[in-house]
Amino acid sequence: MKLDFHSHILPALDDGATCIEDSLMLAKALKDWGFERVTCTPHITDLHRNTPETIGAAFMLLKEEIEKHEIGLDIRMSAEYRLVPQTWPEVLEKNWLMPIEDKFILMELPITKPEQMGDIKPLEEFKRIISMGLTPILPHPERYFYLSRKELMSYAEAGVKIQCNYGSLAGLYGEAVEQNVRSIIDEGIVSFYGTDLHNAHYVKVLTEWFAKGNEIAEY
Ligand SMILES: [Fe+2]
Repeated sequence: MKLDFHSHILPALDDGATCIEDSLMLAKALKDWGFERVTCTPHITDLHRNTPETIGAAFMLLKEEIEKHEIGLDIRMSAEYRLVPQTWPEVLEKNWLMPIEDKFILMELPITKPEQMGDIKPLEEFKRIISMGLTPILPHPERYFYLSRKELMSYAEAGVKIQCNYGSLAGLYGEAVEQNVRSIIDEGIVSFYGTDLHNAHYVKVLTEWFAKGNEIAEY
């Protein structure tokens, strides 16, 4: 099945869709590319302090609008949990985990500044999630230039599923990320690809990339 576990299409919750019209435009693009089921994963970070309530309300709104406009896209709800002290301990304490497909938790690291994690050690948090019977997904490792290959391999060996972005292959984040994603793929550790869809620019780049014959992965 053509699934996307990573998208920012819910309206006005984070740095993705800004309003419901924007959300519908992104949902249409996902449908046009061929995705059958898409999980909405707004950020839960210090900058975007979402909760299951804020996400749930935006999700219900988009679900209704998708039905009203007959877009034909099956959407689900989760979050992209960033390992930062402002929100991750609260997520655990208040039981805000909303597993993707009943088992996966999307756990991102800060994009450029690992010091933002404070005392949080990613491997310990991944193991904590595994001990709860869930499976962590690490999104876009190709964008974390501070993350050593050895560290990344240790996450994969611990049972973390590695998810790269289609956009990285399409050149959306520049040449260095594109080279990095290809070298990570060569390691044979990538389980999933995601759109990480945020806005119209992503739509433009990915539409061109899919039009060139690049295909959606099936799980
Ligand atoms: Fe994301």
